[in-house]
Amino acid sequence: MTAMLPFGARAIMSSRQEPPDSLDFFPTPPWATRAFVRYVAGPELGAIGDPSEVIWEPACGEGHMASVLRESYPYVIASDIHPYGYGHVWDFLSWDDDLAATWIFTNPPFNVAAAFARKAIAITSRGCALLVRPSWLHTIERYELFREHPPHLFAYYVERVPMHRGRWEPEGSTATDYLWVCWVHGADPRAPMWIPPGQRKLLTRPEDIHRWCKPADLPLFGEVSP
Ligand SMILES: C[S@@+](CC[C@H](N)C(=O)[O-])C[C@H]1O[C@@H](n2cnc3c(N)ncnc32)[C@H](O)[C@@H]1O
Repeated sequence: MTAMLPFGARAIMSSRQEPPDSLDFFPTPPWATRAFVRYVAGPELGAIGDPSEVIWEPACGEGHMASVLRESYPYVIASDIHPYGYGHVWDFLSWDDDLAATWIFTNPPFNVAAAFARKAIAITSRGCALLVRPSWLHTIERYELFREHPPHLFAYYVERVPMHRGRWEPEGSTATDYLWVCWVHGADPRAPMWIPPGQRKLLTRPEDIHRWCKPADLPLFGEVSP
């Protein structure tokens, strides 16, 4: 069984078994958010970048997803419970203020993602989309959520989306699948869709590497004379 997994996959899969009190900081690769905007948020959900639309990323971490959303949407609010140095420092689950978000798009902490979904459904005017693993679709907690709030759309990545604790690794690999679970207020459930392959290569930009991948502090093998 192990031999059939890609190199490093066991470590990555097991690293997603977070303790219950973990912040679960696993940044989203920039290309994956661009693919979501291009194939799902715009054409399927109708988040078109109108200046009146307010997008809220309420678990923004270091801004890997929020900064990419800002490429397409003029007004993006970013916040996180932990002060990573990007966005407001707010606990989304305790949020009880008025913030008129049109859409909430986020990769939530796994352990409290159902609570994130309920909150996001309650406070948005158009809807929300959460990036989760297929295993999140199971359990009685999610059954109750989906029964009360049937999602409009499940949008699966055909490609794997490698996520690593605390950092984005452009060359990373994983055996974990991901999909977007999307709610649009007033819209009936529809057939699932698949985000086509090839997006990682197509939508990763050189500036992503400069921005998110810090150079090593020291040369690995020291100075080499010509
Ligand atoms: C899987 S990471 C995703 C980070 C970011 N959304 C991205 O896609 O790159 C989950 C994030 O949720 C944050 N978080 C955990 N509990 C939270 C809460 N109650 N309110 C707001 N953010 C929370 C963590 O600090 C972490 O940054």
